[in-house]
Amino acid sequence: MSIATSKPLYSGKAKDIFETEDPNILRAYFRDSATAFNAQKKGEIQDKGKVNATISALLFQLLEQSKIKTHFVKQISDRELLVKKVSIIPLEIIVRNIAAGSLCKRLGIKEGKLLKEPIAEFSYKNDTLGDPLLTRKYITSALEITNNETIDYLISESLKINEIFKQFFLGIGIKVVDFKLEFGYDKDKNLILADELSPDNFRFWDAKTNEKLDKDRFREDLGNVEGAYQEMLKRVKEGTKQDHKFQASTLNAQSFKVRVQVLPKQDILDPQGQAVEKALKSLGFTEIKDVKIGKEVVFEIKNGSKDIAKSQVKEMCEKLLANPVIEDYKIDIN
Ligand SMILES: Nc1ncnc2c1ncn2[C@@H]1O[C@H](COP(=O)(O)OP(=O)(O)OP(=O)(O)O)[C@@H](O)[C@H]1O
Ligand SMILES: [Mg+2]
Repeated sequence: MSIATSKPLYSGKAKDIFETEDPNILRAYFRDSATAFNAQKKGEIQDKGKVNATISALLFQLLEQSKIKTHFVKQISDRELLVKKVSIIPLEIIVRNIAAGSLCKRLGIKEGKLLKEPIAEFSYKNDTLGDPLLTRKYITSALEITNNETIDYLISESLKINEIFKQFFLGIGIKVVDFKLEFGYDKDKNLILADELSPDNFRFWDAKTNEKLDKDRFREDLGNVEGAYQEMLKRVKEGTKQDHKFQASTLNAQSFKVRVQVLPKQDILDPQGQAVEKALKSLGFTEIKDVKIGKEVVFEIKNGSKDIAKSQVKEMCEKLLANPVIEDYKIDIN
């Protein structure tokens, strides 16, 4: 699965999406390339891929701990996330707390106006058309993308996510001005949050100085773009460390029962198995063959997400519970 040799399934403006051995899991590789104004402005932000992958991973975990279903599975390198494959709904859900960007242009409102209430709005995920703003009827009757019930769900889920983020970012001295979300259906037809959560699709302002710490620095040529991304990474890391994480995970974590079965691989010499096979045969059980003796490890694990718990158990198997060179393992988690 090397990056150099495999061809992306899809190469977007900021990420390359690859298939994995598991048909339901994709690998998202975060690049440094940056675009703005529907790709009319192009450039590079040094280490942006690393910052965005890591911030996304931390924020998806934060949401999972608050019972929001997301596509996040695991961060596997500084620029790569494993995610559940979804069929993306071609809608961008934009949540706004403070007036900025296209809202100001469209309505002539001054940037920085605190909105009376948070707004969730939809635009059509279509670069050729420039992602136009949609009304409910455009979605249900003109484009027939989805129905009213799903629109209601997307709005309520996005506003819930907004409340979680507002509280979290306040704790690290950041105002969440607005952000863009994408949702999709996983293999079991669950509607879950996908894509990324990063300074590319959020507007973050420093709570004290209102300094912009997001892609607007690139859009508006404000300078120190890299510094702003690094600052956000530093703060999100601080915020998700120790108490916050501890609190959230103990409040919302579930307990899963884990059963790991470890057996010698098919072609590996298993003297214990051979001895038992011989003894069984001498007792008259001559029909048997291929006896393998292994072990079973059982324990409980607490986590906000079954998928994250499973990937942790997999890591335990690779590092300690099994010897992957000579043993196979099977994980049951419930
Ligand atoms: N879990 C997922 N399963 C399938 N596709 C996904 C998933 N998460 C994100 N994507 C899609 O991966 C693509 C690549 O991301 P990137 O941000 O580079 O694209 P983009 O240039 O913004 O593309 P687009 O204009 O299609 O949004 C996006 O189209 C996004 O919708
Ligand atoms: Mg994108």
